[in-house]
Amino acid sequence: MDYLQINGGKKLSGSITISGAKNAALPVIAATILSDKPVTLTNLPNVVDIRTLLKLLTMLGGNVTHEDTVAYIDNSSINSHKAVYEIVSQMRASILVLGPLLARFGECEVSLPGGCAIGQRPIDLHLKALEAMGAKIEIKSGYVHAVAPEGLKGAKIIFDKITVGGTENTLMAAALAKGTTTIINAAKEPEIVQLCDMLASAGVVIEGIGTNELIIEGTGGEPLTFPETEIIPDRIEAGTYLCAGAITNSSITLHKVNAEHIRASLDKLETMGFGFDIDNDTVTIHPAETIKPVNLITVEYPGFPTDMQAQFMAVAAIADGESLIEERLFENRFMHVSELNRLGADIWLKGSTAAVKGVEKLYGADVMATDLRASSALVLAGLVAEGTTNVRRIYHLDRGYDNLEGKLAALGADIARKKEQK
Ligand code: EPZ
Repeated sequence: MDYLQINGGKKLSGSITISGAKNAALPVIAATILSDKPVTLTNLPNVVDIRTLLKLLTMLGGNVTHEDTVAYIDNSSINSHKAVYEIVSQMRASILVLGPLLARFGECEVSLPGGCAIGQRPIDLHLKALEAMGAKIEIKSGYVHAVAPEGLKGAKIIFDKITVGGTENTLMAAALAKGTTTIINAAKEPEIVQLCDMLASAGVVIEGIGTNELIIEGTGGEPLTFPETEIIPDRIEAGTYLCAGAITNSSITLHKVNAEHIRASLDKLETMGFGFDIDNDTVTIHPAETIKPVNLITVEYPGFPTDMQAQFMAVAAIADGESLIEERLFENRFMHVSELNRLGADIWLKGSTAAVKGVEKLYGADVMATDLRASSALVLAGLVAEGTTNVRRIYHLDRGYDNLEGKLAALGADIARKKEQK
């Protein structure tokens, strides 16, 4: 198993390019199931989750050629409608094939994803929405069995809670449904906007893109034809590198960023004393005189993202004062707290709030990655910790960060991937 070894204390400088967004690419790949014509996707990040979902498409019978950041997908040959446990258990976003498989083929079986390191993460809202559209759903032997023999019908769906994946599954199902679907209390993350734009580029009429109310005119079962689709920049990867600049108090430049998508992170970093230059798709962070503490609450977009909570906690760990960080989306997304404390941070956890008392120094240690973003927070802490930090179980990182150690090394960090001795 690989681990990352970081010798802390190096200032960073220079520039890197942000990759395509994993969380935009996953629903876009799932949406290709709605088509029986070849589709080209560009600017895919080179991460394990993307390869896992592409593998699932090939297991369903699709034809996939994947080179570097480009995938050519031909789903005209799909002959299985079953997403098996072996894949879904590796990556819960595989549930995104549920809506498109059901919409295109009128039936499917998708393994239940189960809980994960950050919380229970049920899919009840996905299922309720599809049922409202006429699907008959049964849970048997760990699988969701869904059928819609007459095809899906447009419906009015009011989500009890804002759900990114639930909105995506419903959007994809609605695109081929008969009639009009209205989604109220829809998610409006940039990744949802990308999916809406992709469906719209195939002729699906969608009103309210980028708002909490989406109105979709379905094609009544007619498969879609997509033009080439370029994945948007990864706002969480960009935010993570801004935190790398912040924690090392260095000036670094990120290319291919959509500054609008990272406004909440920029705003909080500004509160902490950092400065920025923003020019088209380039963002440069400038050091702070003193790193000030910050209070933040994770909420849905455009609020502060839960996917940046751990990285900000790492920066807050060395701030001059006490920060309060409240996690509202996932009930167990604080696994990094005890690992950051192993590096010398002073974080006290009560319920869904962490009080982070800034310390003068962190000290290198062996730490264990627990989920994707928690892992990146440990790497960030390792960049400033005195001595050597070894971050283990980095398969979490490889699921969602494209060449993390390569990009950090290009900025001047002393970081290397090593193999565990057997
Ligand atoms: C997406 O997960 C992202 N994943 C997550 O990123 C991200 O943290 C999350 O949205 C929130 O922004 C992908 O896009 C692949 P949700 P998703 O449905 O869609 C509850 C990362 O690190 N809920 O918006 O699964 C749920 O438990 C990952 O890249 C229900 O109760 O998130 C949570 O509390 C991790 N019932 C809240 O809603 C449901 O049916 C929001 O979850 C669905 C969700």
